[in-house]
Amino acid sequence: PLIGTTEMFKKAYEGHYAIGAFNINNMEIVQGVTDAAADLHSPLILQASAGARKYARPTYLRHLVEAALEEHDLPVALHLDHGADFETCKDCIDGGFTSVMIDASKYSFEDNIALTKKVVDYAHAHGVVVEGELGKLAGIEDDVRVAADEAMYTRPEEVEEFVSRTGVDSLAIAIGTSHGAYKFTPAQCRRNADGVLVPPDLRFDILEAIAKRLPDYPIVLHGASSVVPEYVKIINSNGGKMPDAIGIPEDQLRKAASMAVCKINIDSDLRLGLTAGVRQHMTAHPEHFDPREYLKDGRQNIYDIVAHKIKYVLGSEGKA
Ligand code: G3H
Ligand code: 13P
Ligand code: ZN
Ligand code: NA
Repeated sequence: PLIGTTEMFKKAYEGHYAIGAFNINNMEIVQGVTDAAADLHSPLILQASAGARKYARPTYLRHLVEAALEEHDLPVALHLDHGADFETCKDCIDGGFTSVMIDASKYSFEDNIALTKKVVDYAHAHGVVVEGELGKLAGIEDDVRVAADEAMYTRPEEVEEFVSRTGVDSLAIAIGTSHGAYKFTPAQCRRNADGVLVPPDLRFDILEAIAKRLPDYPIVLHGASSVVPEYVKIINSNGGKMPDAIGIPEDQLRKAASMAVCKINIDSDLRLGLTAGVRQHMTAHPEHFDPREYLKDGRQNIYDIVAHKIKYVLGSEGKA
């Protein structure tokens, strides 16, 4: 059934694991993600961005998720990813979502609190939970990232006031992750003994300081794709061009999941998997033009990625 995240997060917090929040945009993604979670008996968050709602349209997204729930008996939350304003959040709350994010992190502290509280008041009156955000995730196009980093991290001294004044149910924080497939420039990384680029560690000291101030409170990690090197390689060797694509190493995510982080957002890895499957198929079978043939391979990669995350990164296998 479609449920909120309260119980999921409580169990995840106590069990030192995290729930995967996967972005959905079409049928193949919904099927790949939910089939994997069902086979591994893992709780699941399906999230739709404004872009997803524009592309697939809200009615289709809702029915795709309902179709998955008809096939699988699985605890699933349907969540609005990066809600930009009250109206979008209200629309989703009225339209059957069980969780919404209001992302007012780009505003001042006071304006963030005011908008977040407005959404919380409406959501809670309708039995829906809310995720807020404090701190700014680094932008991939931002060349002055390194210098700007310190100012963008979540400030632990602000979290208690933000949570108590807004009433938000979970909090997304900035500790060094970022959105997309280019999370670090090669210059920000070091090379290990095998010559592989290794990004800087996440700021676990900040996560710890936040967790200390918010006991038993679920923290959310955005921008948490690993940008799976295997899929980047397949894309690049089948006509793609994604040089220097790099994400968050899995050991960093495992560590975050064992701590106060209860929700880990993953979109880019699904995009890479789908694209790798389609590109590889097209190279191997240039005569194919039936979309079912190549989309099937993309969907299979999504299944494999989600199964891998549940087992080896999130730790949510068997927790449904
Ligand atoms: O955080 C961003 C998510 O990856 C969604 O991306 O807005 O292109 O759908 P999108
Ligand atoms: P990635 O781009 O790392 O997959 O992050 C997704 C995300 O944070 C969605 O809100
Ligand atoms: Zn995000
Ligand atoms: Na956790």
